[in-house]
Amino acid sequence: MLTQEELKQNVAKAAIDYVLPLLGPDVVLGIGTGSTANLFIDGLADHKHRFKGAVSSSERSAARLSALGIAVFDLNQIERMPLYIDGADEIDGGLNMIKGGGGALTREKIVASVADRFVCIVDESKLVPYLGAFPLPIEVIPMALAAVARRLARFGGNAVLRKDFVTDNGCRILDVSGLSIKSPAELEAEINNIPGVVTCGLFAIAGADVALLSTQDGVQQLHSPRSQSRNN
Ligand code: A5P
Repeated sequence: MLTQEELKQNVAKAAIDYVLPLLGPDVVLGIGTGSTANLFIDGLADHKHRFKGAVSSSERSAARLSALGIAVFDLNQIERMPLYIDGADEIDGGLNMIKGGGGALTREKIVASVADRFVCIVDESKLVPYLGAFPLPIEVIPMALAAVARRLARFGGNAVLRKDFVTDNGCRILDVSGLSIKSPAELEAEINNIPGVVTCGLFAIAGADVALLSTQDGVQQLHSPRSQSRNN
């Protein structure tokens, strides 16, 4: 029986195999945040001379990439990325995700939006029939925290302020439990419309295109029903 850590290592290795054919001297990759993304970054360091560099979704990942000698670019310098690769806190069969457990959801959504393809790397504990057991992270402008929490209560959400945590953008995170997430893209749009919300941790309007799912029987590849390249 593989441990969760071993499952994460296996999917990180599979992700390296997935990206290797896409690498080239002008290629910049979008890279996410979290323990699974960290393992991917560590493996990518062995191939750092085969691509130009990366755009990162957090200061933490940027520091890790730089320490390993991988060039980190500001997103404003980059027009195109073949893919964005990142973990998730939950993913369903339609490749809708909850992200933001590490608090990097806003930059994750921005960098992913510029990439041609979102590749999600997860162990099997993250695959769920319906999203929502993991409290939904929402990044909020500090002055709007109470107002946003009241609005979320109308959806049945119980919003808890993440203690002692400030995002890379100087904002705060509400972790929201109790939501019924039957239509993830619709709920994402509704939460996006609440004044003061910077980013909702639902990634469903644009979910993953491909998921590499690490199981006891190996790493499986899942494809989104909507998986046409989004920036073409
Ligand atoms: C970071 O903000 C999150 O979206 C991560 O992608 C997510 O928390 C997955 O992290 P792990 O790979 O550590 O589970």
